[in-house]
Amino acid sequence: MSSSDDGSTTLPAEGLSPEEILGRIDEARSGDLDWRGGRAFSLVYHPGDEAHEALLHQVADRYLHENALNPLRYPSLLQMELDLGAMGGALVHTGPDCAAVTAGGTYSIFCAVLTAREWARHARGIAEPQVVTPTTAHPAFAKACEYLDIEQVRVPVEGDGRVDPTRVERALTNRSALLVASAPNYPYGTIDPVAEVAALADDRGLLCHVDACLGGFLLPFWERVGEPVPPWDFRVEGVTSMSADIHKYGYTFKGASLVLYRDRDLLKRQYFWYDDWPGGLYASSTPAGTRPAPPIAGAWASLMHLGDSGFMAMTQQVAEANRAFRAAIEATDGVEIAPASDTPVMQVTTPGRDHNAVGAAMDARGWNLDLQQGGMHLMLSPYHLGVADRFGEDLAAAVADVPLGDVDTEAVGTYGGIA
Ligand SMILES: Cc1ncc(COP(=O)(O)O)c(C=O)c1O
Repeated sequence: MSSSDDGSTTLPAEGLSPEEILGRIDEARSGDLDWRGGRAFSLVYHPGDEAHEALLHQVADRYLHENALNPLRYPSLLQMELDLGAMGGALVHTGPDCAAVTAGGTYSIFCAVLTAREWARHARGIAEPQVVTPTTAHPAFAKACEYLDIEQVRVPVEGDGRVDPTRVERALTNRSALLVASAPNYPYGTIDPVAEVAALADDRGLLCHVDACLGGFLLPFWERVGEPVPPWDFRVEGVTSMSADIHKYGYTFKGASLVLYRDRDLLKRQYFWYDDWPGGLYASSTPAGTRPAPPIAGAWASLMHLGDSGFMAMTQQVAEANRAFRAAIEATDGVEIAPASDTPVMQVTTPGRDHNAVGAAMDARGWNLDLQQGGMHLMLSPYHLGVADRFGEDLAAAVADVPLGDVDTEAVGTYGGIA
């Protein structure tokens, strides 16, 4: 590659050889996040299972050039999408034909907010609908509301990290359309009182979305490995939609999530049909046009390869990692999990010390902790089981590096970014 005067890359006059390209990529990647050793806590949810990973590589390779824009041309992909909706639907207790496969959690949330807007306008006559979310709701809701020109009403959460339904009730207006609860939320790993929030929606004939991007493929098994799980899925009366990411605790590579609805009529509100151009009928179930096939096939392969027993085994490992990390944190003076989390997702605070400095001291020891306003963020996958002891040792040393006092309350860590 050659560079122009401003340092940006220009198209090479002659194409580079595969060896040259791979060499450059390998060199450039040496600066990327190294998650394989279990020292990163978001971005990659790895099962730590070589056979599973090898299978996903083979499946992705088979579908590298296929385009899910028109699933009717690819009956194999069409069936996989139907299977994903049916398998996901069964796990969270909705029908087999009430879901769409999307490219990720943000995308699923966008679809659910879009559906709510269309439902509010056309079924309820609310021209300018509002979406009511806890302040812990993922930024995807803020993004969807901004893009779709909808007002987001944010309700502060309590000290336990959960939204109080009475506060949600007080926030309702005659423009409210969609109430949101997370199972769990990203910052604290706490599960909102879904039953109470959904009951509020149900009583008033409103929609209720459960953001289970993290929990959709975890909580059904989390409960079965003996962890306490409050009601959160479609068995709760009043829950009308859900986002559930397969590329998180469904253990496939990036680009696969489900948006699920209580019934097909709601799902159809996000469908798009168009024939007012010379190119024939164009239809899509999500805003995407051309869609890469590997994430669909990978997600299907992941669920089929793990099966119920594989998910139970993965979840057992996550539960063990969760116990080991909690034990390590509890054994370390100067840190605590706050608020208490319900899941393997949590915030670790450093009362009286600057958590950004403790996080930096952990980074200096090779960890890559995500930093948020109130503390360090942990999200555990099966492959973290092997590093809990080391984490505890390094955490104690990192805390000892940072003196009490001088807490920088302004500093904010990054979670997403712009290239
Ligand atoms: C609770 C929750 N909702 C939504 C999302 C957004 O998912 P994605 O990054 O796949 O768009 C995340 C991502 O971590 C999440 O944790």
